[in-house]
Amino acid sequence: MTPQIVYLNGKFLPIDEARVPVLDRGFIFGDGVYEVIPAYARQPFELDGHLERLEASMAGIGLTNPHSRAEWAKLVSEVIAKNEPQNQAVYLQVTRGVAPRDHPFPKGVAPTVFMMAGPLKPVPAEQIENGVAAVSLVDNRWLRCNLKTTSLLANVLLRQAAVEAGAAECVLFRDGFLTEGSASNIFLVKNGVIITPPKSNFILPGITYDVVIELARAHRLPLEIRQVSEAEVRDADELWLTSSTKEVLPISTLDGKPVGHGEQSGKPGPVAARMYQLYQDYKRTVMRAPANAQA
Ligand SMILES: Cc1ncc(COP(=O)(O)O)c(C=O)c1O
Repeated sequence: MTPQIVYLNGKFLPIDEARVPVLDRGFIFGDGVYEVIPAYARQPFELDGHLERLEASMAGIGLTNPHSRAEWAKLVSEVIAKNEPQNQAVYLQVTRGVAPRDHPFPKGVAPTVFMMAGPLKPVPAEQIENGVAAVSLVDNRWLRCNLKTTSLLANVLLRQAAVEAGAAECVLFRDGFLTEGSASNIFLVKNGVIITPPKSNFILPGITYDVVIELARAHRLPLEIRQVSEAEVRDADELWLTSSTKEVLPISTLDGKPVGHGEQSGKPGPVAARMYQLYQDYKRTVMRAPANAQA
C-alpha cells in the first residue's frame, strides 16, 4: 500500500517520516490553528471559505500568515494529488513554531505548517436514516470559540463526556442559550422554521453552517438566525448537527428523550431530509464545476 503522504514545512514525505521538535509551541502550548477541508473526487470543497477562516484564525491569535491564499490553495491541491482516496479529509495546521518554552510570542521564528490528507469516511447510511443521540452539556470553553485553534482540550473533554453517555455529540448551552456541538454547529426546526444561533465569539463559523444557510435562503425555506434558549431546543420538532465531515446529520434523541413530537418523535424530520438532499445536490453541482470549487 502506498504510504500516506503529508506536507511539513516545505516538504512532502511519508507520514512515518514526518517529525516536529518537542519545543514546537503547538506541542507545548497548543499555540496554533487548524482547518479540516473535505475533498470529493479529489477536489477541495468550499476551499475559499476554509482558507478565509484559516486567515481569520491566524489573525485572531496574532500568527503571521506564512502563505498567500493562492499558495495555500496550491498546497491543499498538492497534498490531495499525492494521496490515493477519491474522497479525502485534508487536515491543515499552523503553529507558532519552535522556540524555548516561554509564554510570550518568540521573535523571528517561522511557523510550523503541517498538512495531511486521509480518507473521508462517509457518514453511515443508518445514521442519516435514524439520526444520532446527543446529550446536553454546559459550554465551559473559552470566549474565543470563533477561532479554530488547536487548543481543543475543552472540546475533547466535552466529546468524551458525550461518548461516555452513549451519544455521538453534545449540544452545548452557555447561560441558558444554545451555542454549538463539540465539533459541529447545531440547527433546530420549529413549526417549519429553521433556527440557528448567529455567528459570534461563542461558536465556530462553520463552513457547512454557511452552506446550509445559503441553501435555505436560495430555496426560500423559512429561516431565523437568532439566539435560541435551552427550552426551545428541548421543544424542537427537529434537531440537526452540521460539519464538513458529518454534513447534515439529524439528532434523534437529546439526553435520552426523543426529539420532536407526535408520530415524528425520535425520527429525523422532513426539513432535515430536505436539507440533506439540497446539500448533496449542491455538492454534486459544485464538484461538476471545478473552476468554482478551487481558489
Ligand atoms: C466547534 C466546532 N463547531 C463547528 C464545526 C463545524 O464547522 P465546519 O462546518 O466548518 O466543519 C466544527 C468542525 O469541526 C467545530 O469543531
